[in-house]
Amino acid sequence: MSTTFQLDTSTSRATPTPKPRKRLTVPRIRDHKQDGKTKEPLVMLTAYTARQAQLLDTHCDILLVGDSLGQVIYGLDSTLPVTVDMMVNHGAAVVRGSYHSLVVVDMPFGAYEASPEKAFEVAARIMADTGCAAVKLEGGEAMAETIAFLTNRGIPVMAHVGLTPQAVNVLGGYAARGRSQEEHEKIMRDGKAVQDAGAFAVVAEGVIEPIAVALTQSLEIPVIGIGASAECDGQVLVTEDMLGMFERVPRFVKRYENIAEVIDKTVAQYADEVRTRAFPTADQTYQPKK
Ligand code: KIV
Repeated sequence: MSTTFQLDTSTSRATPTPKPRKRLTVPRIRDHKQDGKTKEPLVMLTAYTARQAQLLDTHCDILLVGDSLGQVIYGLDSTLPVTVDMMVNHGAAVVRGSYHSLVVVDMPFGAYEASPEKAFEVAARIMADTGCAAVKLEGGEAMAETIAFLTNRGIPVMAHVGLTPQAVNVLGGYAARGRSQEEHEKIMRDGKAVQDAGAFAVVAEGVIEPIAVALTQSLEIPVIGIGASAECDGQVLVTEDMLGMFERVPRFVKRYENIAEVIDKTVAQYADEVRTRAFPTADQTYQPKK
């Protein structure tokens, strides 16, 4: 299937970027960190639709089509039921809606863990059908062989360590990681393993701050934090969380807006105007030509 196309503004509501910028590449993101240091942190947000991608693109370095779309878009309880088809459909939409950011698409639970070959098959489909530049997968040491297999075959991989939501049943919940010495050591080993396997960047999720800092300082590849530390080489959030679409706000989220409230007020006004016949007015109706 196609990757990017020029949006047809005569038939669509889309507003393309007037002057498309050159898209960031995996090597540029990787090389953002030089000699173990990052001057300006990388900006990453989740995106699931073309319009959302258009709005975020100019401000971000990386757009992540996260499997969090299971909860955010599909109202699922966890990311576990998310399918490859869902990721492909949303991934293609985000690539179409963006010009500048590197688009990374999550590999969903069950699609890559069985073997490196299986992971390659799924990752190749995701890349071919969406036009994204890289895939993300969860796991550290256990996934190192798979990460090496993919990167050696042309598939850039962003890794994800610490709190890995696809492993919620093993971890027993979504609590922060790294509180025990054992967890601390595991996170450090995981980071090193994915770097050595060829990952170009790694997300560190729900990791207590001192360990997030130690991980960032110890790795050559960018460490992108979520619920981690401002010292990381970049930050990622679920866009709907930071915009205030949901009542529940995880501790690590800063709510920059209360979009749910804006929508509630706006739709209440619309409903009232429909019910009182205040909408539509002459401005919004077609009259016979004079
Ligand atoms: O699925 C997702 O949105 C993610 C981010 C929270 C890092 O993996």
